[in-house]
Parts: sequence; structure tokens; C-alpha cells
Amino acid sequence: MYILGIETSCDETSCAVLKDYQVLSNITISSLKEHKKYGGIVPEIATRAHLENIEKVLNVALGEAHISLEKIHLIAATHRPGLIGALVVGLNFAKALSLALKKPFIGINHLHAHLFAPFLNYKEKLEFPFLGAVVSGGHTEIYRVNDFDSLKLIGQTRDDACGEVYDKVARAFGLGYPGGPIIDRAFKPAYKDDFKFRCGRSGFDLSFSGIKTALIYKKIEMEKKTKLDRNTTLKLLSSFQEAVVEAVVNTVIDAAQELKIKRIVCGGGVIANSYLRQRLKEAENDNFRVLIPPFEYAPDNAAIVAGLGFYLYNKSRAKSPLDLKAEAN
Ligand code: KG4
Ligand code: ZN
Repeated sequence: MYILGIETSCDETSCAVLKDYQVLSNITISSLKEHKKYGGIVPEIATRAHLENIEKVLNVALGEAHISLEKIHLIAATHRPGLIGALVVGLNFAKALSLALKKPFIGINHLHAHLFAPFLNYKEKLEFPFLGAVVSGGHTEIYRVNDFDSLKLIGQTRDDACGEVYDKVARAFGLGYPGGPIIDRAFKPAYKDDFKFRCGRSGFDLSFSGIKTALIYKKIEMEKKTKLDRNTTLKLLSSFQEAVVEAVVNTVIDAAQELKIKRIVCGGGVIANSYLRQRLKEAENDNFRVLIPPFEYAPDNAAIVAGLGFYLYNKSRAKSPLDLKAEAN
């Protein structure tokens, strides 16, 4: 079966073609550059870019997969959560294709799709239950996944999302946007314990806004005495990342242990972070495995949407009505 996936929840316009779980193409154009000067995503710019790019991205994805539109059997598109205007572009495009081609359409929750990333290309065997950790720019959520149509939220951030706090910290240090990859590259293991920062935690809920404030206050306090040199900046950022990674890893591991779950599946843009990936892998032991998606499938992309769409359709012939609404949250 050939599946077309469409993802437009944030700044990435992405289309993918899968043959069952095999990715034939996964094409993404991001409007990130246009947002950079504003230090964050501007919804109107993202929406306009999706409108301009979606047809082009679809054609490149079909071309790379060597397939014509008529051969597609199922269309899966993100309908939540995300920027409402951005979601509407991809969702309506998918509905129009479904209507014109007379092929079933399924709306996908893209947070759940992030958890499908390790299973693409049959890389890992799909077995339930597992503990799902979505760590992205908009969300930080931990689920008990009994199946992809039966997820139970067991923990989440109480304020900023993990990626959001990376972005805000980088902005406060004047380092640019998005902050995650910048702080990832700046991280020096030798400096990670120079300052003591901590993230908030209650049960399996996390809080990242306190560490952001503590770090920024520390920076201001030190700058009152002297201009921060490069090494001190790297020490602050490395200690910040140490605290964030420590909190995410410990929470996920504790949750898996308490729920007696043997597999942890991770997804979302922050899972591209090299230090977080290293620490998650190091945490593996005889009791549980950690499944980390290949780098290319960690951030928002249409292959994960198509993969989950196929899974749900294959399982129960799940479909969505053509009046399915886009939902921001
Ligand atoms: O999943 P994603 O592409 O979009 C959302 O659904 O939010 O995640 C984007 C977020 C941004 O906040 C970005 O700073 C963060 O992922 N990110 C990273 C890294 N690469 C992207 N955070 C930490 N380390 C990275 N290497
Ligand atoms: Zn995402």
C-alpha cells in the first residue's frame, strides 16, 4: 500500500511517500530562515510559506518515490496540535486530494506521530506497551502507550516545553534561533558541573521555566561585575544543558521503572540533541531498552505522519471524516 503523508503544523512543509512502513521519500522545506530575525515562529509567515510550498513539496516527494498521485491508497495529514493557520493549509490540501482521488483520508495527532519515528523502515519491531516521550519545541509529554489508539498521558511540562526553553535561553544570550542546535554545539562536557541548575519536577511532571529564570538572573548578576567571556558563557550553557538532560532522562527512566515498562520510545525535535541521545542510550540496562529515532526523523516531518496513518488504517480501517477540524491543542 502507498501512503502519502502531509505535515504542516509549524514551520516545516513536509510530504512523504511510504510503501507500507518503508519510506520512499520524505521532503521538507522549512520557512525557519524567514522567522529567524523575529527570534521565534511567526504564524502568518509559516502559513503563507505552506501555501506557497506545499504543491512543490508534494511533486518532489512523488518524483523521488517514482510514483504518480493516482497510485496513492491513503492520505494521512496532521490535524493537531500546532499553529492553527499552518495546520489548516496541510489538512485542507489533504482533504482536497482525498476527494479528488477518491482515496481514504486520516487525520493524525503529530505528537503521537513523533513516537512512530523509530519504527519507520521496519527498524524496530512494533510492540506494546511502551513508554513514549515526546520532547519538542511545543510539547514535553510522557505517555503510557498501550497502542497508538490508546495512549495515556502520565506526565508533561507544567510551563515551557523543553525545546522552547532552549530557544528562550539562546535568545537571552543573543545566540540566534532555534536555540537547541546552537546550545547542543556549544556544550562542553568538562563545563557541565560548573554551575548548579535544576529543573522543577513533581511526579512525572516537569517544569522548565524556573531554570530559565535562574540562568538569566545568573547571567545578569555576573555581567554587573564584568562582561562575560566566552568560557564563562560556555560554562553557563553547558551547566544548563546538563540540568535539562538530567531532568528529562531521570523522569523518563523513573516512569518506565514505576510502570514496569520495558521499552522507552523517544521522539520530537529535542531528541536530535547529541548529549540527550547519549545519556538516554547510557541509561539502558537489562530492564529496559531506549528506542531513539534516526536523526532525520526526530523533528517534524511527514514520514512519521504517514507511518502512523498506515498503522491505524491497517489496524482498524480507521478513517477521518472530511469535516475533521484542525485543532491548535
Ligand atoms: O519537534 P520539532 O521539530 O517541532 C515541534 O513540534 O515543536 O521541535 C523543534 C524544537 C525547537 O525548540 C528546537 O530548538 C529543538 O526542537 N531542537 C533541539 C535540537 N534540535 C532541535 N533542541 C536541543 N538540541 C538539538 N540538537
Ligand atoms: Zn513536533
